[in-house]
Amino acid sequence: MRFSERVLSVDLSGIRKLFEGAPPGSINLGLGQPDFDTPDSIKEAAITAIKEGKTGYTHNAGLPELREEISKKLFKENSISITPDQILVTAGGSEALHIVLQALVERGDRVLHPEPGFVAYSALGLIAGGKPDGIPLDETLHINVEAAKEKIKGAGVIILNSPANPTGMVEPEETVRAIVEYADDCNVPVISDEVYEHFIYEKKHTSAARFGDNVVTVNAFSKTYAMTGWRLGYLAASEECVNECMKVHQYCQACATSISQYAGLAALRGPQDMVTKMRDEYKLRRDIVYEGLSRAGLRFNRPEGAFYMFIPLEESVYAKIIQSGVILVPGKAFGERGAGFARMSYAQNKEILSSAVQRMTKVISGC
Ligand SMILES: Cc1ncc(COP(=O)(O)O)c(C=O)c1O
Repeated sequence: MRFSERVLSVDLSGIRKLFEGAPPGSINLGLGQPDFDTPDSIKEAAITAIKEGKTGYTHNAGLPELREEISKKLFKENSISITPDQILVTAGGSEALHIVLQALVERGDRVLHPEPGFVAYSALGLIAGGKPDGIPLDETLHINVEAAKEKIKGAGVIILNSPANPTGMVEPEETVRAIVEYADDCNVPVISDEVYEHFIYEKKHTSAARFGDNVVTVNAFSKTYAMTGWRLGYLAASEECVNECMKVHQYCQACATSISQYAGLAALRGPQDMVTKMRDEYKLRRDIVYEGLSRAGLRFNRPEGAFYMFIPLEESVYAKIIQSGVILVPGKAFGERGAGFARMSYAQNKEILSSAVQRMTKVISGC
């Protein structure tokens, strides 16, 4: 069988390497998945939808009442005015990223993304026929605005992600505004991936779409409501952009799962205290892990959001940590500029995290 160059150019190896050399009984801190269960009220809404036979295709763009609710949420929480017609409900944030890159990227276009950055950005950029081009971060692991500006002119698209995977950093409002306004001047659309917006511990979230119309907001229910397996997300953009994205969505997905959409509706309409509880718990865990690793002698900035730490680790120490039974993702999986780091997820309970920190401390103090 002959495969397309676009797909052949995509690498899975960073993820495969994860388990190499890890002994049985290893603690897996490699996953980007909340350890919380989906709240019962959301599950009940899905069960009711099944029982009531709401199991057929929905409107391609998503249930009108769900898009209405998302539009209200974007106004209330993100200060963005978006009508329900400017929303496309997708199979997770992943599908939203895929279809918008398909709609915006011409063959050979540079797809700018933070590097180290979420693995899908460069892979989906390649699949869209573009050329991924990483924007370096500064020493605090935030976007280097000047470096971003140097690359924006002539690019096909720029992707922003705050709070960020894999760094756990939150971009300040000045950075988001500066990049959106400069990209607008250069006529380069911005894709703003905000899937971790609710997991911020000190700072405030800034939605890029507040600063320009040339912005596509990508979000999902996956992390906020611990619904990764339900595959529900959305994008919000100009109607013109939604119409183009719709062509890809309609032919590859038809619509997001009906049952998940009813669950998502209940998530948005119901009380939000479970989200606050998860956030408070992640913050506690972040502090336990950060303080433990600092005591072990690692020096790095305290992450500000999401549920990841991007810790400085030489490759030899990383290998020993894996052998000691703690699985982390090597920084290089997130781009060459991630070399010398490893990503650790703290979406695990405190006991598991404490034993991981103990194992890591033993390795680090022995090196
Ligand atoms: C930054 C970022 N964006 C998007 C996604 C995709 O989320 P979903 O599960 O909704 O497709 C992830 C998942 O890990 C992520 O980390």
